[in-house]
Amino acid sequence: MATDEQILGRADVNDLEAIMAITNTDVDEIVHTVKDNADAIFTWDYEKGARPALNKLYEKAKTSQWNGETDLDWSIDVDPTKILVGLQGSNAAGPFQALTEMADSPFAKFGDKEWEQLGLESMNWRLSQFMHGEQGALLCTAKIVETVPWIDAKYYAATQVMDEARHVEVFAKYLQEKLTGFYPINAHLKMLLDDIILDSRWDMTYLGMQIMVEGLALAAFGFMHMLTEEPLLKQLLRYVMSDEARHVAFGVLSLKEYYAELTDAEMLERQEFAFEAAVRMRDRFMQQEVWERMGIDGRQIVRMLLQVPPDQMIFQQMLFSKIVPNCKKLGLLDANDGWLRKKFTDIGVIQFEDWADTGEEYDTFALGQELPA
Ligand SMILES: [Fe+2]
Ligand SMILES: [Fe+2]
Repeated sequence: MATDEQILGRADVNDLEAIMAITNTDVDEIVHTVKDNADAIFTWDYEKGARPALNKLYEKAKTSQWNGETDLDWSIDVDPTKILVGLQGSNAAGPFQALTEMADSPFAKFGDKEWEQLGLESMNWRLSQFMHGEQGALLCTAKIVETVPWIDAKYYAATQVMDEARHVEVFAKYLQEKLTGFYPINAHLKMLLDDIILDSRWDMTYLGMQIMVEGLALAAFGFMHMLTEEPLLKQLLRYVMSDEARHVAFGVLSLKEYYAELTDAEMLERQEFAFEAAVRMRDRFMQQEVWERMGIDGRQIVRMLLQVPPDQMIFQQMLFSKIVPNCKKLGLLDANDGWLRKKFTDIGVIQFEDWADTGEEYDTFALGQELPA
């Protein structure tokens, strides 16, 4: 059984110095190269529909394609402050409320102007990270087309590659044309995406991307879609979510079959990877790059964030509302005497385990439907 030190590179999940030591050192690079270690697999078994649930998903994907250039109304004039009104409600501090009352808080002297600036930077940062994550999904899914041994999964993954290209395209366009451009990729997110691509086992791509990264994205997009009053972003998120729900279902349906066959030792490796991914994503939301850009001491903010009890970090916690039930459905929570259940309890996200999983939920996200509350 691996220790936290072996899994995360630090013995204490909340080790401030170790978290801060992970920084993006090549922000000016145009390309970033990762070794893709996997074997490309041909299959000579062309029987379409041998896996009916995947076949159904593939047929659904073929008739659910949309065009980011023509289906979204790019003529809308975006007022960035309007994005914030919905997201933060009447509380200007938004997700950082808990930090305002702490001793020596840099937020103590914040007025409306500073909160607005922080809100806009955070928004820009967040959408930039989603854009980078979408590119991660594009690469990972192209890899799945090569590495998964089943024809129904190759067919479906091919449709997801197209979906992800469209997602990168629309987030990039929104940031460039309607906001003020991009933030570079967050170092914790980059580390996670690199790890997912580096792993040679085909199911690890699914686990890292379809279950963890996309599970988080689906929850975050749902949250932002519900709250934002900016019409173009709302429309964009609605379209992206209709695809994203299928992607998460693809992960759950594919892995459910495969994980039922694995030994305890093999399951433990998957549990450890899920835990590592969860911690990287939590660390990412400390948004170190934003503090740096605003001239605030990031180390102090991250130290304060680590002190907030998890149940007061509602936004951060909600991001796990799809991941945890999906891990449960795959048997990852309970294998090996509940190893991952204990880890998810420690980082304060276990309470979502009985929420709806995303194996069958995608129909309710189809365009034209009212979204589930
Ligand atoms: Fe996507
Ligand atoms: Fe996706």
